[in-house]
Amino acid sequence: DLADLKGLKRGTLRLGVVTTAKYFIPHLLGGFCERYPQIEIEFKVGNRQQVIDRLSEGRDDFYVFSHPPKDAPLALHEFLDNPLVAIASADHPWAKRRTVPLQEFAQEPFLIREHGSGTRYALERFLREQNAKLNVRMTVESNEAIRHSVMSGLGVSVISTHTLAFGGDSGLAILPVEGMPIRSHWYLAHHKAKSLSPVAATFLDWISQKDNLRIEA
Ligand code: PGA
Repeated sequence: DLADLKGLKRGTLRLGVVTTAKYFIPHLLGGFCERYPQIEIEFKVGNRQQVIDRLSEGRDDFYVFSHPPKDAPLALHEFLDNPLVAIASADHPWAKRRTVPLQEFAQEPFLIREHGSGTRYALERFLREQNAKLNVRMTVESNEAIRHSVMSGLGVSVISTHTLAFGGDSGLAILPVEGMPIRSHWYLAHHKAKSLSPVAATFLDWISQKDNLRIEA
């Protein structure tokens, strides 16, 4: 419509995103806000369980997950890959190895995300499939604190590559652990039953165009 053509669409776009998506969604929003300067954005961040809670209360237009809940009537739009990689401090001796067997990796002191985290959910599923058990040293409720703990040599971890973009990899090495990276994808989700506001529909259109998904890191 005419308002859309002139970039005059106005209103609020409400997004609830998991913590690992907060590193790249803002970069996607840059282009969107330039195109639609009158749209205001409300951006909420939580772990997977907190975003599921927002979803069940119908708080936002869209939710960004890599592991959407299976029991909710959701429309899902897959839009990017989300590989989870094994990390250690840059000077860890394994950083130079060609491969690290999973069983060996699992014996290192491990820094794990809290219950309710999607990263943890994906990791635990992977470990069950591989019949491996971690040597957990510390439970940490933040990707940043995990990065810094790993950097300082407290242990190893598994984290989304998105948390390492834009300089987030300094002081860290990605380890070539067998079976990794753990593959997952990003989904934009919304309630099937709830109809999209004009602003939300505009955003869905916009994010469905591949050119708009390019992020320079
Ligand atoms: P989280 O996000 O670990 O912060 O919950 C990642 C995800 O849900 O995939």
